[in-house]
Amino acid sequence: MLAAALARELAEAEVLERERQMRAVFDAALDAMLCVDASGLIRDANAAAMTLLGCGRAGVVGRSLAELAAEPPRPGTPALADVLRGERVSGAAEVVHAGGLRRSVEFTGIPDIRPGRHLVALRDVSERKQLHARLALADRMVSVGTLAAGVAHELNNPLAYVVANLSYVDEQLTLLAPRLAAARSGCGREPDLANALLDAVHDARDGAERMRVIVRDLKTFSRPDEERAGPVSLAPLLDSCVSVAWNEIRHRARLVRELADVPPVQGCEARLGQVFLNLLVNAAQAIPEGHADEHQIRVSARALAGERVAVEVADTGSGIAPEHLPRIFDPFFTTKPPGVGTGLGLSICQSIVSAMGGEIQVESALGHGTAFRVVLPASGPDGAGAPGRGAAPAARARGRILVVDDEPLVGTVIQRTLQGEHEVTVASSARAALARVAAGERFDLILSDLLMPEMTGMELYRSLRERAPELAGRVVFLTGGAFTPAARTFLEQEPVECVEKPFELETIRALLARRLVTAGSPRS
Ligand SMILES: Nc1ncnc2c1ncn2[C@@H]1O[C@H](COP(=O)(O)OP(=O)(O)OP(=O)(O)O)[C@@H](O)[C@H]1O
Ligand SMILES: [Mg+2]
Repeated sequence: MLAAALARELAEAEVLERERQMRAVFDAALDAMLCVDASGLIRDANAAAMTLLGCGRAGVVGRSLAELAAEPPRPGTPALADVLRGERVSGAAEVVHAGGLRRSVEFTGIPDIRPGRHLVALRDVSERKQLHARLALADRMVSVGTLAAGVAHELNNPLAYVVANLSYVDEQLTLLAPRLAAARSGCGREPDLANALLDAVHDARDGAERMRVIVRDLKTFSRPDEERAGPVSLAPLLDSCVSVAWNEIRHRARLVRELADVPPVQGCEARLGQVFLNLLVNAAQAIPEGHADEHQIRVSARALAGERVAVEVADTGSGIAPEHLPRIFDPFFTTKPPGVGTGLGLSICQSIVSAMGGEIQVESALGHGTAFRVVLPASGPDGAGAPGRGAAPAARARGRILVVDDEPLVGTVIQRTLQGEHEVTVASSARAALARVAAGERFDLILSDLLMPEMTGMELYRSLRERAPELAGRVVFLTGGAFTPAARTFLEQEPVECVEKPFELETIRALLARRLVTAGSPRS
């Protein structure tokens, strides 16, 4: 009898001990755990469950399991309350946090852990889902960038001859206008046709110029397969960034630009464009819409001691809370609503800038504004004179020009516009150009497309170097962007000059004037 009582006592103590252990496991579990009764009422909840639902024990115990889900399950998918039917279930759901936000969970329901009690374990997977969504978005951005590079490239050829033809018509009409006006006033008719035509051409040139800028900007922000570091002129790059961000900026702030006499920096133009664009968009988004006259975004650049350059983007927006400041460069840290920010911007900026040997500094005053400063290495003195941007020399000379482009209209427009000043020959392929050279023709300058089907401009150049080396030194490439890796290596290794399509006639004229003088073979 005594022995039986002792055994019972021991067994009870063991049960109590096990219960204590179970309780400790239940309370310490990182996943939310709910214990529900047969009618579906929650009878117990661990600490993780209270965190998940955003309320204390009293706010959880006594609620019905079914009402935790934000929405009824889709037909055919498991529901939280299925465990009440005595089935072991697993599924996904959304539960509502006391703050009103929804949390995504994966759940498992285990029936009858003891008579009349079921266990439901819930794992909060909201962050993981957000992360996936953001990675997918980042991935899409890469595809969009690649697409943009292709579109920019395809638009460049037609734009090249639209822009050049319009400037030709403009020039010729300007010359003709006084004569037309005189002739018309002599016969007493409407004298203003020439001016109306000139206005029409100016409007068309404005439109083409806007397209040219859009294409140039697209090229700046597209992602080439491989990246080239070199001297980057900051003022035009920052101007491109401002024009891409202009829609975000213009309703919120005045833009102040202080970019005089900044030396070029050493880096990759497309990547730096991404950095400054993100800083500009962040600055704009920190300012409320509708009071543009009260706010300012200042973009400035200046040389620092030690061959470095600082670019600053400063705004008069919301500022950054001191507790957020240490986290703003973390990937996915954002205070913006979903759809506005991914929180990747600054972390990407940070990695781009440090890969270029630079750093990003930030100063912020809550309620007053923020300044981001990007410090970059200046490029050496040899980088100062980027090709194609030099000033036009005074001297002019008549020369024999060969234009090689598989897009016939590019050749035609150069021929049409420069024929009066130079002798222009057009070849629609590199082979046709080589045939002319083989037949003994000589040219003072060869303007060649870089990428052409069959035989590229690079092959033409190499072939000229073997057959007529003096002509190889007179090749200038016309490029439409979206370089292939081979083209990029070629341009890095060979001492050749490039002109970007679409080009203004003045750019070509200045190039010819300079090259025909320096070539030392002017013809008159
Ligand atoms: N100029 C600024 N003024 C105020 N807060 C800023 C500024 N720039 C960045 N922040 C803060 O830093 C956070 C992180 O910026 P980041 O550029 O990395 O991501 P995001 O702008 O939120 O999203 P994304 O750039 O990916 O679209 C922002 O959510 C914001 O809280
Ligand atoms: Mg951002």
